[in-house]
Amino acid sequence: MIRCSIVGATGYTGIELARILLRHPRVRITHLTSRQEEPPELGKLLPELSKKSPLKIEKFDIRKVLEGSDVVFSCLPHTESAEFVLALASKNKIVIDLSADFRLKDPKLYKTWYGWKHPRQALLKSAAYGLPEIYREEIQGASLIANPGCYPTATILGLAPLLAEGLIETDSIAVDAKSGFSGAGKKLKAELLTGEVNENFKAYKINQHQHMPEIQMVLSDVAKAKIQFAFVPHLLPLERGILATIYARKKAGVKAKKIRAAFLAAYEKEPFVRVRKEGDFPSLHAVQNTNFCDIGVWAEDKNSRVVVVSAIDNLVKGASGQAVQNMNIRLGFPEQAGFERLE
Ligand SMILES: NC(=O)c1ccc[n+]([C@@H]2O[C@H](COP(=O)([O-])OP(=O)(O)OC[C@H]3O[C@@H](n4cnc5c(N)ncnc54)[C@H](OP(=O)(O)O)[C@@H]3O)[C@@H](O)[C@H]2O)c1
Repeated sequence: MIRCSIVGATGYTGIELARILLRHPRVRITHLTSRQEEPPELGKLLPELSKKSPLKIEKFDIRKVLEGSDVVFSCLPHTESAEFVLALASKNKIVIDLSADFRLKDPKLYKTWYGWKHPRQALLKSAAYGLPEIYREEIQGASLIANPGCYPTATILGLAPLLAEGLIETDSIAVDAKSGFSGAGKKLKAELLTGEVNENFKAYKINQHQHMPEIQMVLSDVAKAKIQFAFVPHLLPLERGILATIYARKKAGVKAKKIRAAFLAAYEKEPFVRVRKEGDFPSLHAVQNTNFCDIGVWAEDKNSRVVVVSAIDNLVKGASGQAVQNMNIRLGFPEQAGFERLE
């Protein structure tokens, strides 16, 4: 059995990860850690935990984590995570970082978008960007896997087939993305109070969201050209899920049939991406609590626009589920191990 630890286990992604790993047939959780002097009871955060489970959340102790783990998941906030990951460097562990700290290849982007100078630029190069549908081969050999952000996962999967095949104009993209409030984590923030979120709906950080450079980096890599896009995130008055509606303009002469065919070909063999039938578009209910990304595509010959709707659960395919998928790839396990399936 592979020994796994989760650092930052009391947060939303940490608990979701524990939930998935507890069902995984090939791994055993050894440490769940918190900064708190008196960490909360695991059963209170994870109500379905078995009465007999000996697992508990412990005060963070790096020595114990190092001694007791083959794979370490960091579910810490940005910058805290980098510090922890650097302490693990060259300790011969597989590290999967759910924060943004190793996602961007260009260190200058950290200063621009996160207001922070990256402390170990060399590691940025060797980290694999953990989006299996695009970087599976890199993930297979990586010691450090930078798990993608939630908005980037939904957006990139909704655009990659179109850009890889050169079917849309690279400066025509607009992404209208909506997220449930768990996307912002568990910390206290005035704008996330019930009175602000409930029965409300708003756009925020228009073209200023920190996930934009990540989306641009990957899409430009896929397209082999610099991508320009507008990105408008919205906060939904619900707990989990991201639904991105993506608009782009077809290149002259591209037929609607070709657009659909590109999605079907790109994701035919992908275990966690489902392309909907023509005229069918995903809802959040279809993906909540699953590791699926569901995609609906609209295109017509007589209209130059393409519309793609891409939906994920931000805590699963947008975070902890994708982290387990990455671990499975890295360790050569079946990619679906840990996710119950209906055959
Ligand atoms: N939420 C999402 O949908 C999502 C999706 C993709 C990626 N991510 C990324 O995944 C990471 C974890 O996200 P999350 O949503 O699980 O966050 P969260 O709910 O706020 O949890 C973060 C955990 O880290 C621990 N921690 C340690 N040092 C901390 C510090 N200085 N300040 C605050 N917390 C600290 C906290 O546990 P203790 O207080 O018990 O120590 C906390 O429970 C973040 O980097 C986030 O950007 C989140």
